[in-house]
Amino acid sequence: MSITTPLFQHHKHCDEVFARAEDACANADWVEGEQAFALLCDQLETHFSSEEELLFPAFETATGMTSGPTEVMRGEHRQMRDLLAQMRGALAARDSDAFGGAAETLLILMQQHNMKEENILYPMCDNALGASDVGASLAARLKAS
Ligand SMILES: [Fe+2]
Ligand SMILES: [Fe+2]
Repeated sequence: MSITTPLFQHHKHCDEVFARAEDACANADWVEGEQAFALLCDQLETHFSSEEELLFPAFETATGMTSGPTEVMRGEHRQMRDLLAQMRGALAARDSDAFGGAAETLLILMQQHNMKEENILYPMCDNALGASDVGASLAARLKAS
């Protein structure tokens, strides 16, 4: 198991929660939609903050690369948080179309983001941080979520 394995697995978990929220809101099942969306926000925030507070700083310290891939990923996290805020507003207004539109944009962004992390950044982190205890911290934080 590599340092970033818990993050890989958590991407899949977030994808599943996302699909639940999207399905429920598309069917105007607002009770299930509220629950799944609250869980999605919670899980994505835990994921983003684990990367921003644990993984990225460790990578930047180990490599000296502070304005490279981690900076791009932080920017994308910001965009995804903005889309979640749009979805929250649409859900509150019981607006399936607005929710679906923002959800579709988020899904595309999230897929591209996760692919970049899984194919490029996480392998770089595994190489740079092979002997550090960041992996244990990540596993603990994501397991507790
Ligand atoms: Fe990320
Ligand atoms: Fe990630």
